[in-house]
Amino acid sequence: MPTVGTRLRETTRRLSEAGVASARHDAIVLIAHTLGLEPSYIRTAAARDDEWPPGADLDLLEARVTRRIDREPLQHITGKAYFRSIELQVGPGVFIPRPETEVVAGVAMAYAREALEMRGEVRVTDLCAGSGAIGIAVATEVPYAEVSMVEASEEALVYLRLNARFQPPEVRRRLRAVYADARNCLRQFDACADVVVTNPPYVPISAVPRDPEVALHDPPQALYGLGDDGLDVPRAILDEAQRLLRVGGVVVMEHGDDQGAALREYAESSEWWGDAHTLTDLTGRDRMLVATRVGV
Ligand SMILES: C[S@@+](CC[C@H](N)C(=O)[O-])C[C@H]1O[C@@H](n2cnc3c(N)ncnc32)[C@H](O)[C@@H]1O
Repeated sequence: MPTVGTRLRETTRRLSEAGVASARHDAIVLIAHTLGLEPSYIRTAAARDDEWPPGADLDLLEARVTRRIDREPLQHITGKAYFRSIELQVGPGVFIPRPETEVVAGVAMAYAREALEMRGEVRVTDLCAGSGAIGIAVATEVPYAEVSMVEASEEALVYLRLNARFQPPEVRRRLRAVYADARNCLRQFDACADVVVTNPPYVPISAVPRDPEVALHDPPQALYGLGDDGLDVPRAILDEAQRLLRVGGVVVMEHGDDQGAALREYAESSEWWGDAHTLTDLTGRDRMLVATRVGV
């Protein structure tokens, strides 16, 4: 009889041969997902070399492992992604949230808490919301924050609405999903925002990502920021953020690790932005522009 350990080793080997970087992790998640168990249980069962559970659906596991060998993202196979403290539903047509964006969301939360303390209320706008990762995390972690999430892709909007709907009522009632172009969405709002946070598409068209999971499965609209440097869309969104924010409000915009100076310069060239600076992610790479809306 095979054991959990032998099956895990075999699955890990096959994923590793297919070029999957996180082969053991993914093998554990796929086995756990198929058996309806927690990944931690699979780790323990493998370490004890428990017998493979009788009746487990091997065909289903094989189908899922084959999809991963074909480099379909793990999150599309399980239908789930994790972001800070929340679980999101994802699938084809929506961008899979990345760990570096958790830091961007954290910075937006710090500004939102500051505004809440000063004003007793806070409005946050998440432009280019995708699955809702940033916006829903902000509403979850910052009490009373009223969060609007703007998204222009109909496919992504399905997940955005679904994820907003599946939050606890106290969070859900403070979330709003808006179908609009983030470069031109002012008319959707009847009050100024205290914080605009955004992870826009910013990859230059010449820099097609190497990993098939990204190149073939993330929607192009979520990746490519247009223009030679990939910053046409981010610059236009920065212009719109100016119009959405109250004086004293803050924009937090994610960008690529070599785009910090260009976005800072763009913000500094406008009389409506002050204190433009770049913050890094957990690996020390330039990751986000922060700027304050000033009055003139
Ligand atoms: C990099 S993804 C970020 C998604 C999500 N905020 C996250 O961090 O996981 C960019 C998202 O922006 C959306 N998008 C692209 N251009 C847009 C635009 N002009 N207006 C609104 N959304 C846009 C894409 O459909 C995609 O969902």
